[in-house]
Formats: sequence, C-alpha cells, structure tokens
Amino acid sequence: MARNKIALIGGGQIGGVLAQLAALRELGDVVMFDILEDMPQGKMLDLAEASPVDGFDVALTGTNDYKDIADSDVVIVTAGLPRKPGMSRDDLIEVNSKIMTSVAEGIRDNAPNAFVIVISNPLDAMVTLCRKVTGFPPERVMGQAGVLDSARFQSFIAWELGVSIKDVNAMTLGGHGDTMVPLVRYASVNGIPVMELLEQKYGSAAKAKEVMTAMVERTKAAGGEVVKLLKTGSAFYSPASSAIAMAESILKDQKRVLPTCALLQGEFGVDGFYVGVPCVLGAGGVEKIIEFKLDAEEQALMDNSVKAVKELVGSMNI
Ligand code: APR
Repeated sequence: MARNKIALIGGGQIGGVLAQLAALRELGDVVMFDILEDMPQGKMLDLAEASPVDGFDVALTGTNDYKDIADSDVVIVTAGLPRKPGMSRDDLIEVNSKIMTSVAEGIRDNAPNAFVIVISNPLDAMVTLCRKVTGFPPERVMGQAGVLDSARFQSFIAWELGVSIKDVNAMTLGGHGDTMVPLVRYASVNGIPVMELLEQKYGSAAKAKEVMTAMVERTKAAGGEVVKLLKTGSAFYSPASSAIAMAESILKDQKRVLPTCALLQGEFGVDGFYVGVPCVLGAGGVEKIIEFKLDAEEQALMDNSVKAVKELVGSMNI
C-alpha cells in the first residue's frame, strides 16, 4: 500500500510547522510547494536532516512545481500574506484572493482527488474561493479555524480555573473573525459546566459571568493578540497544530468531531455558505455536519456571524 502524501501549499511560518508535525507523526510523505525559489527545498532539506535524530522516516520534498503535488491525499493551504499589527483578517482579502485563485487552479489540475484544508485568511472567504475554483465536492474542501479558536478558548478556561487543558472541552462556532461564537453553555471540565465552576470560585453568578465574558472576548481577539506581540507575522504554531489534527482525522479515518469551516446546505438555517460548525472528519472528508439546538441568544450570535461571513464573501464578487 502506498504511503499517504501530504502537500503543503505555502512554506512560510505555518507551512514549516505543518511539515515538522506531519513528519514527526509520520502522517505520510510531505511535499512543500512555494513560489519562492529554493526556500521550500531548503526547509525540507533541513527538516529531513533532523530525521535521524527524531527517528521519523518519511520522504520530504521542497518544490516550486505544482506537478510534484500529484497524487496527494491531503493538501493544506497557507499560501498568502499574514496580518500585520492593526490589520484585521478581512484586510487581506484582495491580495490573498489572487493568490488563492492560482493555488486552487494548481490543486485542481495536479491533485484532483485530494482533500483540501485551507488556513489562509480571511478564512471563510478563502475556503469559499478555493471550492469555487477547484470545483471539488464540498466534503473535500474545508477550512481550519474552529479547532484553533476552540483551543484558544479552552486554554483561557484552563488557565482561569487552574485545571489541565486536557480536561477542558469547549467549542466555537461561526466565522473566523470578530463575530465568532464561543459557546459558553457547552463549555465544561470533564462534563462539569465551566459557569458552575466559575461561580464556585468567585461565589457570585455576576462575577462568574464577567470573567466568562472576558474570556469570550479574549478568544475572539486572540489572533490579534499574537499579531501584536509578534509584530512581524501572525500565529503559526497553533494554526498548524489545528490543521494537522484535521488532516490526521481524515488520513486515519478517526471520525473526530472537530469544529470545521464547512459548506452548509440548510444546517443551522444557512444555505450555500462556509461557516464553522462541528463536523465528523474521516476518510470521506467532511462526512457529517453535526447540527444541534442553539438557544435564542446563541442563535442570534450565530446569525450575526453568518451575516458577517456573507458580507465578506459577497465583497469578492465571485
Ligand atoms: N503560491 C504559493 N505560495 C505562495 C504564494 C503563491 N501564489 N504567494 C505567497 N506564497 C507563500 C509565501 O512565499 C510564503 O512563504 O506563502 C507563504 C506564507 O507564509 P508566511 O508569510 O510566513 O505566512 P504564515 O504565517 O504561514 O500564514 C499564512 O495563513 O493564518 C493565515 O493569515 C495567515 O493568510 C496567512 C496564511
């Protein structure tokens, strides 16, 4: 049986971490494509020379030729510009749309059977464009945002409560922007509602609500917090880890339930737009979109987020 093959389109900050994680976990052979001459070749040579130390045994190739992504099982796209301090993700739409169009054509023409995970921002627009240009079925084109946004929310909860991040479960829905919806009601520590634990800690429901609101707001602005500190680029460890979790679930048919930017066709009252929702990811890609009941407040927040996604996608005129 042939080994899995993972193509990375974009070999920058996130692409580099993606390659290292994929190699360390031996998810398959890795091909890194970038338009910069020699850079992907150099990065993959460097990584390959770490393999005797780390003990991973996969083929690592850097390339400037789309032909080398042929027969890829999964393609992860990070090509595009990252934010600078003060910029929103949406400010990247013009330049990254052009890049995404050429990237999607490259994938369509060279890896027509691949599952595609888009990370490039503004995410909801870029994944929409990628699907349109490739023409791939919706279960094969998805975006990474929810795993990361949820991980940020989970981190803040764990730090606030002084418990292991392994025991915190929380999820965000909606677009990958300021309107994303961290779900407070479902946030738990091994099933125990986080709100109950905050009330125990602070002895007041009002204070618990105030602390939760601060964590929700920090989650929504978490990417910008990192951009402000880095000054020259945006988050890269956490987006890479998040996309690798999605790729692994597909390649190993794990059927993990991961918040994924998926094409909704009636679910959550949305038709024809990519929005972050929990999905079963397995050998068939987005195998199932899991719908569940939102209360009135959550639905209003979701509607607001979907409205923002629609405006963003509409601005591309595709
Ligand atoms: N085809 C392929 N690669 C390209 C193209 C293109 N047309 N245009 C640019 N690139 C490459 C760049 O050469 C660079 O190596 O994309 C890479 C982007 O890397 P970084 O600038 O380091 O950005 P990174 O931090 O990896 O983020 C990439 O993901 O999270 C989003 O907002 C982020 O849109 C950004 C993307």
